[in-house]
Amino acid sequence: MRKYLHKLYIVTLVAIVVAVFIYLAVNGSSYYLSAPEHRFHHEQHNILKPSGFIGHGIGIVGSLILVIGVFGYMARKRIRRFSRVGVLKYWLEFHIFLCSLGSVLVLFHTAFKFGGIVAISFWSMVAVVISGIIGRFIYIQIPRTIEGHELSLNDINALRPDFYSELKFKYGLKEELIDKLNFELNRKLSLEGVNYLIRIPKRFSFEKKIIRKIKKELKGQQLSRRNYNRVARMYKKEIVLNRRIDWLSSMQDFLRYWHVLHLPFAIIMLVIMVIHVSIVVTFGYKWIF
Ligand code: HEM
Ligand code: HEM
Repeated sequence: MRKYLHKLYIVTLVAIVVAVFIYLAVNGSSYYLSAPEHRFHHEQHNILKPSGFIGHGIGIVGSLILVIGVFGYMARKRIRRFSRVGVLKYWLEFHIFLCSLGSVLVLFHTAFKFGGIVAISFWSMVAVVISGIIGRFIYIQIPRTIEGHELSLNDINALRPDFYSELKFKYGLKEELIDKLNFELNRKLSLEGVNYLIRIPKRFSFEKKIIRKIKKELKGQQLSRRNYNRVARMYKKEIVLNRRIDWLSSMQDFLRYWHVLHLPFAIIMLVIMVIHVSIVVTFGYKWIF
């Protein structure tokens, strides 16, 4: 997929989730914001309550979307026969889209009343979404092929372009300047003994400082605006790659531990959802069927 097409794809998916959230929130705001004891007499009660036409409907559609989002991605990733169907990276993006959309629909299905054992399912869903956001951050720190498979340190180095000759011959930068810029680029930040949560913002502000220095040096050169942007982008990419290499083994460990957290919450959510559905069907809630 071309870069701009991919951007359009992501923007469309995000826009759908945001639009659905805003639509449901605005349409039902007066019902959802009313006190539980006043809801019974509210004019929208019969359609927006969890067993109402819309409330029940979005519960069913949201749960189906969640199930497709989880099992679709798992099948693509784990079943050999599907290993050639589409690019894994796009499947993960679609997993995130479907699971976010499904969660929004289920949130409005509950009408913001979290009672009974199904509340465990709801809070597990919240835990999976929050852990998903953290997992996504860890996931993108690990360099991968376009297919989404992890790269080893050797693969990464083999893929690196000849940075030095590109700067010298393509953009005409002088050797002394390249050495000066590369000195900034290769500065090391010692984070030994620093808490992992503090390491991340420290690393980001350290990188920001480096890129500011590099840009300042570049501004003093006679580069066209276009070439200035291109060289600055090359350095930014290198900085990100250096960070990913530095963090490679820790991030691989984190992702392993993270799977141990994300998966059980997903299972709890799905198991209690099945119990919840069996109970409500037994009690005769059939929606339009
Ligand atoms: C992850 C998925 C789901 C979650 C987290 C969830 C959560 C909830 C919650 C919190 C309530 C309100 C309980 C209360 O009033 O105290 C509820 C009610 C209800 N849900 Fe779900 N639900 C899910 C999926 C479904 C599905 C798929 C169906 C339909 C088959 C469904 C049908 C209902 C019905 C009919 C009620 C009303 C029950 C009553 O008024 O006694 N739910 N759900
Ligand atoms: C209710 C919502 C969600 C459920 C039930 C869910 C469930 C799952 C499951 C079961 C897996 C494991 C797949 C496997 O290893 O075979 C997974 C992977 C993953 N999910 Fe979710 N997820 C949800 C939402 C999200 C969200 C909102 C994000 C990100 C913002 C996210 C990001 C990820 C990532 C990064 C992976 C790991 C991919 C990999 O290592 O291949 N998930 N999810």
